[in-house]
Amino acid sequence: MVKLNVASTELDEAASVRVRHVTKRFDSPDGGITPGALALDDVSLSVGAGELVSIVGPSGCGKSTLLRMIAGLHGPTTGEVSVGAEPITEPSAERGLVFQDPNLFPWLTVRRNIEAGLVARGVLREKRAEVDEFMRLVGLEAFANSFPHHLSGGMAQRISLARALINHPKVLLLDEPLGALDAFTRMRMQDEVLRLWRAHGTTMLFVTHDIDEAIYMSDRIVIMTQRPGKIEQIIPVQLERPRDRSSEDFLHLRGEILETLHFAGQPMAGNKS
Ligand SMILES: Nc1ncnc2c1ncn2[C@@H]1O[C@H](COP(=O)(O)OP(=O)(O)O)[C@@H](O)[C@H]1O
Ligand SMILES: [Mg+2]
Repeated sequence: MVKLNVASTELDEAASVRVRHVTKRFDSPDGGITPGALALDDVSLSVGAGELVSIVGPSGCGKSTLLRMIAGLHGPTTGEVSVGAEPITEPSAERGLVFQDPNLFPWLTVRRNIEAGLVARGVLREKRAEVDEFMRLVGLEAFANSFPHHLSGGMAQRISLARALINHPKVLLLDEPLGALDAFTRMRMQDEVLRLWRAHGTTMLFVTHDIDEAIYMSDRIVIMTQRPGKIEQIIPVQLERPRDRSSEDFLHLRGEILETLHFAGQPMAGNKS
């Protein structure tokens, strides 16, 4: 019993994300003669295992840069990014990334799109049974043999979620994943992401421009300043789930966040981006 607890603590630890005093300066176009632009300035953030944290901030403040760094696609200029006790040095299937554009292969069926990553990693044979399970999980089993151009935007984004989740990532990084969807599909997909989050206990970092979406979904909301991105404030959302978008508490929090953004000189969309 004790051993089991230790094991589960270790497991938890392994799915936590730590960003410590991270600065990111991109190379200048003149090949380093002048210093490049500072994208992130001393960002520190800890995300607990199984936590869902949203990141909001104006365009160009470094949200995607931060997510790509956690994905291992580029390193920080100074500071440290780690998952559990491990510093991040390269991409890993344990850290999935979902973009606004589902980036599906148009010439492959839904099933083959979900399988593509498994093929690339050479694990399709042992994972084949899970493909059906994940198509069911996102409600697309009837479309297994359809091609992407037959699907709506919401359906395409479900495939991209299934494709990321089939790797059983410890951490899922979502970069404005619902930004291209119409308002109704977007709300349905918010519930879908929450359902997957609950079912898998995946640690999630969710970039959004939509404050309502951030309040509806997250345990905490990280508000970033304009470029170079710093963390302006981290707001815990203690409302009970499922959350009621029209409740007094929800609207009160929304007002507070809008005020914070206003005082930080960042007027943003309160409802849709
Ligand atoms: N590969 C890159 N090379 C040079 N500059 C970049 C690169 N990627 C992003 N930037 C710059 O870093 C800043 C932050 O970009 P990004 O992380 O995409 O912002 P956000 O996702 O918040 O809109 C922007 O000014 C952008 O132009
Ligand atoms: Mg971005």
